[in-house]
Amino acid sequence: MPDSKQNIPATRPLKDPFGRSITYLRLSVTDRCDLRCRYCMAENMVFLPKPDVLTLEEMLGLSRAFMERGVRRIRLTGGEPLVRKGIIWLINALGDEVKRGNLDELTLTTNGTQLPHMAEDLARAGVKRINVSLDTLDADLFSEITRRNRLADVLNGIKAAKAAGLQVKINTVALKGQNETELPALLDWCIGEGLDLTLIETMPLGDVADAREDQYLPLTDVLPKLLKKHNLSPSGHRTGGPARYFNIEGTTSRLGLITPLTGNFCEGCNRVRVTCTGRIYMCLGQDDHVDLRAAIRSDNPQVNLNTALDKAIGIKPKGHDFAMKGDQMVGKVGRHMSQTGG
Ligand code: 5AD
Ligand code: SF4
Repeated sequence: MPDSKQNIPATRPLKDPFGRSITYLRLSVTDRCDLRCRYCMAENMVFLPKPDVLTLEEMLGLSRAFMERGVRRIRLTGGEPLVRKGIIWLINALGDEVKRGNLDELTLTTNGTQLPHMAEDLARAGVKRINVSLDTLDADLFSEITRRNRLADVLNGIKAAKAAGLQVKINTVALKGQNETELPALLDWCIGEGLDLTLIETMPLGDVADAREDQYLPLTDVLPKLLKKHNLSPSGHRTGGPARYFNIEGTTSRLGLITPLTGNFCEGCNRVRVTCTGRIYMCLGQDDHVDLRAAIRSDNPQVNLNTALDKAIGIKPKGHDFAMKGDQMVGKVGRHMSQTGG
């Protein structure tokens, strides 16, 4: 594993068979979560046994190995990353890599429940931006969607994050017949709070209680409703992810759209995902993966890890196959989002 004190030179950048450079790692630090969003998890999820999960030290070593191969941005995800015990240690260590210039950015996708007591620690560690998942401002609907009565915690968490100086972007999954009619009001709330909002189409990841087709709301149906009230103009703004952004006239907020179903964005893919057990998935929507944990836990981790990374990048698929065929959603994968990370 690379030495923590040294600057990390990018050797042999990761380039996939389609010529895409991999500069962005999304690392899921736990598959556990304190919510149970219906489109993400079943109520009775079976979580992974502890020994299978990488230690935080292993995750740091792994992150450094990616940095050596040209990764410049890391996003910690889950499950819910902030429920992992001791996670601030890893966030501090990766924040130090940003301060040393070895990473451009460390970010986080969180459901916000832990932010009231953790936002300041994140800011101190050098985190500048976070994504908070929030699908509704209605307490009853929040409890219905997430199966937990935690809206007040999330709203307090967003407040705490802003107070700590973090830039907050709200991520909202558009859900037919659930938050569908509330989306214009949610956008107005974000504008009032000075936050960006990204809407996401639901993807067929893992079995959940409701049929995906029943939850699916194409953003092509949502956009005209937002345009009734706001003038949107395409923005060149990029955050390294798949969202396309619009400026909202007369406001400081931006609207992002993530359209895995109605608008494929795989061509510009720059990222890979690692699960908390050390499996690397080259695409959220495909099953191809390579086990990095065996390499990390072998007697020659440095060499074996780099060999495993070469193998993984060599089989990065061209893209996902999520699509609507008539009234059926196709391209489904068996893994839940909580396993691969958002
Ligand atoms: N489709 C789309 N988005 C999902 N998320 C979780 N499961 C799905 C799914 N099946 C979202 C969460 C969070 C981010 C990590 O991914 O709401 O914003
Ligand atoms: Fe937890 Fe996020 Fe999944 Fe909701 S979507 S259950 S907050 S991991």
